[in-house]
Amino acid sequence: MIRFYKGKNYDSASKIAADIIAAQMILKPDCVLGLATGSTPIGAYQELIRMNQAGLIDFSEVSTCNLDEYVGLGGNDEQSYRYFMNHQLFDHVNIDKTRTHVPNGLADDIQAACREYDEIVASVGGADLQLLGIGHDGHIGFNEPGDSFDRGTHLADLQESTIRANSRFWDGDESKVPKQAVTMGIATVMSARRILIMACGADKREIITKAFHGPITPQVPASALQLHPCVYVVGDEAAMGDLC
Ligand code: GLP
Repeated sequence: MIRFYKGKNYDSASKIAADIIAAQMILKPDCVLGLATGSTPIGAYQELIRMNQAGLIDFSEVSTCNLDEYVGLGGNDEQSYRYFMNHQLFDHVNIDKTRTHVPNGLADDIQAACREYDEIVASVGGADLQLLGIGHDGHIGFNEPGDSFDRGTHLADLQESTIRANSRFWDGDESKVPKQAVTMGIATVMSARRILIMACGADKREIITKAFHGPITPQVPASALQLHPCVYVVGDEAAMGDLC
């Protein structure tokens, strides 16, 4: 079942997303959260920090598994997704960092690191709730158009358009953006019991509409979510338009 929620603006969409995550944490204090990076979830993370500091939610028993990491970046690199998660969420809540997992972008043997990451996800029992953003080409994690739906964690080559979009974090210098990433595959994402995908801003309107009202095709990776039994699509008015 797909449920759509529209907030008036980015802040209210972030609040809706945070409430869904908080509900999961209250229902199951030792839940596994699949987490995402990108600019979209930052507001939801800020709201979760506020709720945690107000004593409304507790991260002490929560485990997390992040979607992806750039190849070649270590956790101390400001552009790495491990650094992002520490700074945007983990450093500000009462989570046990040993329970937080991000793929290893520095492994000598990336293929082995991919297999190990799938084992980690399986060993914590899989995600109870997987949070996702969406790229302009419909990518989730770093599953780019054309990637088959049945893959686990793997090494992905980033599309030119994704490199261009993400270069904003490198002052627009595309040459500095890593060209590869380790990402959970669509099969890993689909194994989560619930999925929460966020889309905000007018520039996401076309792709989020395609993903949920268009054909299910690897050319639009997020369209696979139409096949999942429990999906929450949360966005602002600019992105959601007439979706709900
Ligand atoms: C990156 C991440 C995705 C994210 C996407 C969109 O490519 N790997 O997980 O969904 O960016 O990011 P934003 O939310 O900044 O638009």
